[in-house]
Amino acid sequence: MAALKKRPNPRKAGASSNGNGAAVCPRCGKPLGAGCKHCGYRLTPEQERKEILATALLVYADKGAPNTLRAIAKRVPFPTDHKRVGRILKPAIASGVLPQLETSTTRNGKQWNNKPRAKNKKDFIGVKALQGITAPKNWARMYELRTGDALGELRKIKNGSVNAFCTSPPYWWCRKYKGLPGQYGLEATIEKHVDRLQKVFAVAHKKATADGVAWLVLGDQRGGSNTPRTDKTKTKVLCRIPNKIIDALEGVGWYCMSEITWCKTNPCSQSVKSRPTDATEKIFMLAKSPGNHYFGYKALKEICKTTPSPTDCHSSARRKEKNNKLNGDTYPPRNWGDTRNTWDWWEIAINPVINVKHTAKMPIELARRLVLGSCPKGGLIVDMFGGAHTIGMLAVLLNRKYIGIEIAEVFNKRAEKQFRTNFEG
Ligand SMILES: C[S@@+](CC[C@H](N)C(=O)[O-])C[C@H]1O[C@@H](n2cnc3c(N)ncnc32)[C@H](O)[C@@H]1O
Repeated sequence: MAALKKRPNPRKAGASSNGNGAAVCPRCGKPLGAGCKHCGYRLTPEQERKEILATALLVYADKGAPNTLRAIAKRVPFPTDHKRVGRILKPAIASGVLPQLETSTTRNGKQWNNKPRAKNKKDFIGVKALQGITAPKNWARMYELRTGDALGELRKIKNGSVNAFCTSPPYWWCRKYKGLPGQYGLEATIEKHVDRLQKVFAVAHKKATADGVAWLVLGDQRGGSNTPRTDKTKTKVLCRIPNKIIDALEGVGWYCMSEITWCKTNPCSQSVKSRPTDATEKIFMLAKSPGNHYFGYKALKEICKTTPSPTDCHSSARRKEKNNKLNGDTYPPRNWGDTRNTWDWWEIAINPVINVKHTAKMPIELARRLVLGSCPKGGLIVDMFGGAHTIGMLAVLLNRKYIGIEIAEVFNKRAEKQFRTNFEG
């Protein structure tokens, strides 16, 4: 029997380039992937480091292109990702050998990917409807940021004292916020996720005033590589979690008053061809005692931009139409009602957002509507999944008290700083 040839250790060989900057295998001369798929050769860590540094220098020299970790990772001549590139470039950037990279949102110091962020007090007002509004003088006494678990901290609040809960719980397997134990959204099954939220809202029900309401922004999830595999999560299939959550909350005493569709005017792009792009999320308005609950009808009134159709069955439209005819006005009437009750679909862009570092901030305009719709001035709003505390900042600005609960202390510290930046002086 012929003796088996011992394969040379590929990590010991040296890589070279084909003159165009692309790495070629030094053994067989073919283009080099993560390793050479032709003869099994792999780059040594040192060679990998050199290739990445060389690519970074090329990217720095290309003034017109973004120089982010992702941009460098794309140009490295073998498959790699931005995290690996970051780990390799970090020491060189920290020691000043390489200049700072742009962040994904800035290019040459300017915003470039259409995600404006509020930077100071003026920018925080970035929403037209908030222009000219200043926070009350006693703003510092109007909010409290608590670090801890939503359920535990909620239990400490006095029964019957909360006018409104405005919150956006972590979506199921969407993000790992700081990877803290006890974090919501990382349950093994959808049922467990729904159960945990049900427990939180059962306690919230006790804490709510008789006219109390809860506004929830809920996103869905699709089965796939980023969710646990269960027989109910088929790949790419929508899990329909928001409606399951609301069914569960009805079981603990809440009544669903409205299901609003948030139509994102600039949703994130998705490379899908088998279904429409996801461009909406759900906002639910729940009441403790329907009919007796608060709704900021006047504050949420919106300008009517449509002309009633001649067949419109709305009586006031018909009356106005008739009056117009009698008065000799033009027909059909334009802008017949200046304002009307808000409709149950809201067109809101996903920015601007407040200037606190967090991966899942809600748009300022959305938080503004939730705050105005949920309780009158002087009322108490609680967000038990505070995050960057967008709701809190809008609550204080619009003269409501706020208690924000958040499991990650770092988010509370960042938000605390931003509260002072926005409202001090
Ligand atoms: C979707 S984000 C909220 C974003 C927020 N609406 C904003 O505009 O910034 C959900 C937040 O819930 C927090 N969270 C997760 N599990 C929690 C728990 N057990 N108790 C309290 N907060 C929790 C996460 O850390 C995350 O910041």
